[in-house]
Amino acid sequence: MRTLVTGGAGYIGSHLLLELLGQGHDVVVVDDFSNGHPLALRRVQELAGKDSHLVEGDIADTALMRHALKGVDTVFHLAAYKSTSESLAHPQRYFRNNLGGMASLLQAMADVGCRRIVYSSSAAVYSPSASMPLAEGSDTRPQTPYGWTKLQGEAMLAWLAEQQGWSAVSLRYFNPVGAHPTGRIGENTTKPSNLVPRTLMALSGDLPALSIFGTDYDTPDGTALRDYIHVIDLARAHLAALRALKSPGHHVYNVGTGRSYSVREVVDACGRAAGRPVPVVEADRRAGDMPVCVADPRLFLDELGFRARFDLDDMVSSAWRWWQDNPGGYG
Ligand SMILES: NC(=O)c1ccc[n+]([C@@H]2O[C@H](COP(=O)([O-])OP(=O)(O)OC[C@H]3O[C@@H](n4cnc5c(N)ncnc54)[C@H](O)[C@@H]3O)[C@@H](O)[C@H]2O)c1
Repeated sequence: MRTLVTGGAGYIGSHLLLELLGQGHDVVVVDDFSNGHPLALRRVQELAGKDSHLVEGDIADTALMRHALKGVDTVFHLAAYKSTSESLAHPQRYFRNNLGGMASLLQAMADVGCRRIVYSSSAAVYSPSASMPLAEGSDTRPQTPYGWTKLQGEAMLAWLAEQQGWSAVSLRYFNPVGAHPTGRIGENTTKPSNLVPRTLMALSGDLPALSIFGTDYDTPDGTALRDYIHVIDLARAHLAALRALKSPGHHVYNVGTGRSYSVREVVDACGRAAGRPVPVVEADRRAGDMPVCVADPRLFLDELGFRARFDLDDMVSSAWRWWQDNPGGYG
C-alpha cells in the first residue's frame, strides 16, 4: 500500500515514517522543512534500511500535491504549525497553514480520487471546563487559534465523510514526548516550550533552572497533572487507525495513556534518567493552565485494540539520550 505522510520530516512524522517503512509500506513524504529537517529523513532511512520518496514543498501547492498523491491510497496529514503561544500572537499564520493548507490538500485528494485520511488533531480542542478524564464526546472549546484550527480541520473531515463517503480518522494527541531509543530521531527544537525538553535544558545547563508554574493546585503534590504519551506509541496509533478507515465515516479517537503524571513526577524521572537532580525554581501558576488534563483512552482500545506500551521512564530516558546526542537538534 502506498501512503503519503505530510510533515514526515517533523518530530511525530519521522517516527511515523519509521513505523510505516518497518511495516512494509511504500511511503511518500511531503515536507517544506519549515520546521522539519532533511537529516531526519536520512536517519529514518538508516534505521529502517529502506527509503521513502520525498516531495519537497508546501501542502498548499495543489498541483504539487496531485503529483505527490499519484498511486496513494491513504494520507497521514501531520503538516501544520503547532505552537499555542505563537498562534495567539500570529493567528493568521495558523489559519493559512493549518486550515488553508489542509483545504488545498483535501482538494488535491479529491482531484486524484484518494478519500482516506488520518489527521493529527489535539487535546487542545477540548473545553477547559470539561470534566476529567476527557472522552471524545466531552465539550470542545479551544482556547487558542491553534486549537481552533485543529477542531475546524476535524469539521472539514466530518463534512467530507458525511457528504462524499470519505473515510477519515482524527487522532486527538495528548502530550507526545520521548524519542527513538537510539537517539537518532527526536524533536528538533532549540527553544522548546514543553515541560520535558525544558527540564532537559535545565539538566544540561542550557537553562539555569526549570520553572515549575504552580505548586498549589488541588493535586497530590500541588503541581499540574498531564497525560504524556511516548512518540513511538503515538506513531503506532496511526497504524491502528488504518483499521478504522475500512468503514466510511469520520472517526475521532483520543490518543493518550489515561495515566497522568505531575510536573514533579516528570522532573524526578528526568533527574533519574540523567543521574542528577534537576535545578528547579517554583513560580506562580500561569494564566490558562489547567490543573489536570487526562485522556479517557478506552474508545481507541475497545474499537481498535490500541494500548500505549511505554511508561514515563521510557519517555524521558529516550528524550535525554536524544538531547545529549543532538545538542541543537539536527543542526
Ligand atoms: N508535538 C505535539 O505536542 C503535538 C500535540 C498535538 C498535536 N500535534 C500535531 O501533530 C502534528 C505533527 O506535530 P510535530 O510535533 O511532529 O510538529 P513538527 O513541527 O515537528 O512537524 C510538522 C512538520 O510539518 C512540516 N510542515 C509544516 N507546514 C507545512 C506545509 N505547509 N507544507 C509542508 N510541510 C509543512 C514541517 O516542516 C514539519 O516537518 C501537527 O499537526 C501538530 O499540530 C502535535
